[in-house]
Amino acid sequence: MAASDEKAGKTKIVIAENGPYLVSGALPLDKQIIEIGSDGNPSRWAQGEKFPAQESRALCRCGGSRDKPFCDGLHAKNGFDGTETASREPFVRQAETINGPDLVLDDAQDFCALARFCHRKGSVWEFTENSGEPESRKNAISNACDCASGRLVARDKKTGKPIENKFVASLSLIEDPQKKVSGPLWVKGRVRIESADGFAYEKRNRVTLCRCGQSGNKPFCDGTHVSCGFNDGDETLKR
Ligand code: FES
Repeated sequence: MAASDEKAGKTKIVIAENGPYLVSGALPLDKQIIEIGSDGNPSRWAQGEKFPAQESRALCRCGGSRDKPFCDGLHAKNGFDGTETASREPFVRQAETINGPDLVLDDAQDFCALARFCHRKGSVWEFTENSGEPESRKNAISNACDCASGRLVARDKKTGKPIENKFVASLSLIEDPQKKVSGPLWVKGRVRIESADGFAYEKRNRVTLCRCGQSGNKPFCDGTHVSCGFNDGDETLKR
């Protein structure tokens, strides 16, 4: 994606009223799969299918398309209510703060997409509380940074600056073979997201948008895809 596209305002996701995500600016699209370690917890994000580059796409938001991840227009027939109910406050105003000796962890639970990396090798909250120890500090940072939804953000205690993986602006479809479900659309690299009524949500390094149509915190994922058994037909779910 050319940097000039971002400048020209072409790179963005516009949420159609009761309809799809209208993606423009040739954002790369792939699948990212939650790989499970020997302890039964997520261990890493594994690269899945990569989709051919395309200048613009309409991605299904109602969960009903017969051509997922793309929209096939079914939302107009299945009564999809895509009303956006999420808070429009900045992340830091929605987050609780956990203060450790070396790190601060901001935690806004409403964003949780149930990817479960917060429990890798232990709990991100305990690692933060013990962040004076180098190993705990490292684990707190890696667990927070692998939180696709951006629910968890680790900050350096001295500078107050967020510690983030560097992402290029891109999109990933999350697949969760352990739970046998498909997950949300992972939006990386501070992509502009516009609501159906023209509001620009806070630009963030990572955020997850609902694809199952059932979230109670639209447009963001709230983890409901697990309980509703959302399946976009991905091959990895059949293992
Ligand atoms: S995809 Fe997670 S709640 Fe819809």
